[in-house]
Amino acid sequence: MNPVTNAAPTLPPSGGPGVIAIDGPAASGKSTVGFALAARLNYLFFDTGAMYRVVTWAGLDAGVDLHDPAAIGLLAETLDIAILPAGEAQDDRHLTVLVDGQDVTWAIRSPLVDQNVSIVAAMPRVRAALSQHQRQIGVRYARGHAGMAGIVMVGRDIGTVVLPDAPLKIYLDAPIVERAHRRFLELERRGKQTPFAQVLADMRERDRIDSQRAIAPLRPADDAQIISTAGLSVQEIVARIVALAEMDTQPATPYPL
Ligand code: DC
Repeated sequence: MNPVTNAAPTLPPSGGPGVIAIDGPAASGKSTVGFALAARLNYLFFDTGAMYRVVTWAGLDAGVDLHDPAAIGLLAETLDIAILPAGEAQDDRHLTVLVDGQDVTWAIRSPLVDQNVSIVAAMPRVRAALSQHQRQIGVRYARGHAGMAGIVMVGRDIGTVVLPDAPLKIYLDAPIVERAHRRFLELERRGKQTPFAQVLADMRERDRIDSQRAIAPLRPADDAQIISTAGLSVQEIVARIVALAEMDTQPATPYPL
């Protein structure tokens, strides 16, 4: 797998937290907030959910049985997944996702992938392969790398499993009806008309699987700051996290290697 690669020179540590872990359920605002926060701090934005989506998309595309842990595990271990900054693309993307060189940034956001990704994300072999890769990227960027001063890593288990020593952990949450409404509007914007009742039911099922699975279930880390995003603007949430990050920088707390 190709991690984010960039030849730009490495920056010295910024004195900020270096790593900000953001976890939370689907459509809790992780991606929008994480992206805006990363831009504000000159950190890399890294969405780990995209990796689980890529494996699911590739399984569907190749006609692999998504309930076959050996076949899906092998895909997770061998696919060439690259999560890159959005670059020049003018289509609202927060990052560009390539698999074996093919741009699947939007293909991995389809309702079919939405419906199946939790099954794939519950498989131990898939989690082992992807979280190891995520951890390597987190550690690489923690002290500044490739022109970025740190990393904002977004997912379900970043604060609990992938980067448990992250100096700043955020858990975003919002009521399920609000989250389903956000996802409904997002799908509508992309021309994918899906009945609200179905979006809500899919999200309920995804929450259930993500939070009840045996390995790395969705839950806030004990030391996470929990922020309810209901009724708050993206700017307000980002400002809260920046304030927490600034508190965290006195004195600087480098990520342990
Ligand atoms: O955040 P998202 O909706 O793109 O995540 C897609 C799926 O991947 C979701 O069902 C949970 C799973 N996931 C996970 O298990 N661990 C992560 N670190 C990120 C996502």
